[in-house]
Amino acid sequence: MTRLSGITPSGHVQLGNYLGAVRRWATEREPADLFFVSDMHAMSTPHKPGRLRALTREQFAVLLAAGIGPESVFVQSDLACELGALNWILECTCSYGEAARMIQFKERGAGQDSVRVGLLTYPVLMAADILLQGATEVPVGSDQDQHVELARVLARRFNATYGEVFAVPEAVVPKTAARVRDLSDPARKMAKSTQQSAGVVFVLDEPDVIRRKFRRAVTDDVGEVRYDPENQPGVANLLEILGACRGTSPYTAASAADSYAALKEIAAEAVVEVLGPVRERARELLDDPAELDRIRAHGAKHAADRAQPRLQAAMRMAGLR
Ligand code: TYM
Repeated sequence: MTRLSGITPSGHVQLGNYLGAVRRWATEREPADLFFVSDMHAMSTPHKPGRLRALTREQFAVLLAAGIGPESVFVQSDLACELGALNWILECTCSYGEAARMIQFKERGAGQDSVRVGLLTYPVLMAADILLQGATEVPVGSDQDQHVELARVLARRFNATYGEVFAVPEAVVPKTAARVRDLSDPARKMAKSTQQSAGVVFVLDEPDVIRRKFRRAVTDDVGEVRYDPENQPGVANLLEILGACRGTSPYTAASAADSYAALKEIAAEAVVEVLGPVRERARELLDDPAELDRIRAHGAKHAADRAQPRLQAAMRMAGLR
C-alpha cells in the first residue's frame, strides 16, 4: 500500500486541512507514503508569484512540523517535468465532459469573466500526481472525493486502452473532521482561500487569535448544546472540532459543555493545545531556510526517482518515444 496526498498553497494552512488531512497523514504514515505541497495547482486561479513561493515554503514547513518525516515530503513543482508529461497523456485520456462536471470547477468558475484552462484540467493534474507515484490510497477530506474518483476512471481507462501501468487508487475519507466548517458561516467549508478570514482558524495563528475567532463563532438560538448538524450547524461544527481534537465523537463532546459560551471556550482551548506544538516547530523550520532547502532537495530526488519507471512505461505504451 502506498498513500499519497497533497495540499495546495492557495492560502495559509487552516484547521480543516490539519484535522481533516495533515494530522492523519502524519500519524498513520508508512515508509512508502508521500505527501506534497501542490504549488502547481495554486496557479489555476489568479495568483501572485512571490506569495505562492512564500506559501509553498510555509506549507512545506507545516507538513514537516506535523510530523511527516523528511523522506516522505516533496514540492510538486520539483517534479514539474515528470508531472507535465503524464498530465498531457492523461488529458488525452479524459473527456472534456468529465473535467467540466467536477463540482469544484463549477463552484470556482461560477460568475468569473475569465477562467483559466488550468481550473478545468486541475483534477487531471491531480490524477497525474496520484498515478505517477503508484498510490493505492489517497487520504483526503470529502471535498476531494470526486477528484480521486476521476483519477480512478483515468487509471482504468489508460490500463484498458494501452496496457497495465497504473494502480487504481482509492480515496480514504476520515470519519471525523472530513469537512470542518467556517466558524462565521457554518454553511461553508473552512477554506484557506476565503477572503473574510474571521471564521477561518489558521494553523500558524497565535493562541489569542484562535480564542477570539472561537468566541465569535456563529451558533443559533436553540440554546442547547447537542449534536444536530441539520438544525444546529454552527454548534455541530464546534462539537466536531472538539471531538476531532480529543479523539472522541461529537456526541461525546456535547457532554463537555452546558452553554454555548463554555463550548466555544473548551473548543478553542482544545485547538490551541493541538496546534501549539505544530506552530512552534514550523516557526523554527521557517527560521532555518538552509535546512528547509536541504530537506526539499532530498524529497524531490526521492519522489522523482520513484516516478521515472512508471512515466517511461506510460509514454512507451501510449506510443511516445
Ligand atoms: P487542499 O489544499 O484544498 O486541501 C488539503 C487537504 O485538506 C482537506 N480539507 C479539509 N478537510 C476538512 N475540512 C475542511 N474544511 C477542509 N478543507 C480542506 C482536503 O480535502 C485535502 O485533503 N487538490 C488538492 C491537493 C492535491 C491532491 C493531489 C490531493 C493536489 N494533488 C493528489 C490528493 C492527491 C487540494 O487543493 O487540497
